[in-house]
Amino acid sequence: MSTFTSGPLVLGIETSCDETAVGIVRGRTLLANVISSSVNEHARFGGVVPEIASRAHLEAMQSVIARALDEAKVSLNDLDAIGVTAGPGLIGALLVGTSAASGLALGLNKPLFGVNHLSSHLAVDALTDTREIKPAIGLLVSGGHSSIIELRDVAREVHVLGATIDDAAGEAFDKIARILDLDFPGGPAIDRLAKSGNPAAIDFPRGLAESDYNFSFSGLKTAVSRYLQKSPQVHRGDLAASFQEAVVDVLLTKALAACKETGIDRLIIAGGVAANSRLREVAAERCAVMKIELRTPPIALCTDNGAMVAAMTSLVVSAGVKPSAIGLEAMSTVPLSQPTWA
Ligand code: KG4
Ligand code: ZN
Repeated sequence: MSTFTSGPLVLGIETSCDETAVGIVRGRTLLANVISSSVNEHARFGGVVPEIASRAHLEAMQSVIARALDEAKVSLNDLDAIGVTAGPGLIGALLVGTSAASGLALGLNKPLFGVNHLSSHLAVDALTDTREIKPAIGLLVSGGHSSIIELRDVAREVHVLGATIDDAAGEAFDKIARILDLDFPGGPAIDRLAKSGNPAAIDFPRGLAESDYNFSFSGLKTAVSRYLQKSPQVHRGDLAASFQEAVVDVLLTKALAACKETGIDRLIIAGGVAANSRLREVAAERCAVMKIELRTPPIALCTDNGAMVAAMTSLVVSAGVKPSAIGLEAMSTVPLSQPTWA
């Protein structure tokens, strides 16, 4: 491998769900971020259909890689490493990414790194903020996960403090959106609708105690759907805003309690739900009061993308982690405590 002047040149491939995405970074600098999404093909089913997602990845892969190389103005031979999301995610979708990455690494004789999709959501922060990211408390909120993490070193050492025991935060947004007949995915739709409502209109339950770092959103979901059955004439903006307020309150109360207990005064919020405007707003207010340094990736880098995989891989390469085996095994479930693949 070459000696890096400003960090390794890494191409990262992401195919864990419905986005075929390729990012290219040099060290902590983003050079390209190309995404082809099959979201419209899933919309009428109200959720992602795995077979449709896998086929769309196969069809899009080559052109997305070519567009990313073009955007970054680099060639395949210039690369120092290839990174790929190897889990968690839809197994058929992941396999398209790991096969493409293995083929590239083998053909180009470049090191291959399988990385954890969840760690990558947090690592993307490194591209837009050059300050140190460790240690930090991570609040990872996506369609499949809600976790609070003690981040000592995102490339090597993360410690999960709590996770969802039922629905993930994004899943709760998606399900409530469906009850309200809003578009899929539901998060952005609720975010928009909530702007026309009063977040204090309805006092929805907050679930588990503050000191418990696990999350449960099923009680809240039931409360919202009961409320709608009981009062079908309710102002929908008020309902959306009050639901969103409850989710935001629970997420931040627990994440900030973790900061306080561990004495770590830095909070990174990442994953698709980190795009939520109210979560970003309330996080900024509460962190300012508590003198906690808040880090949230730009909205475009919160939902799934290839830049996050390239960023994670770049941190992993720089940390001196050994490459993964060619043909590494994609895994549909992987704990956050496993950042890379052997
Ligand atoms: O991280 P992500 O793109 O995919 C997974 O790894 O799951 O997260 C997708 C989730 C979806 O549930 C979507 O509804 C939610 O993120 N989401 C939002 C917003 N934008 C996306 N939730 C709330 N507010 C948003 N603005
Ligand atoms: Zn994700």
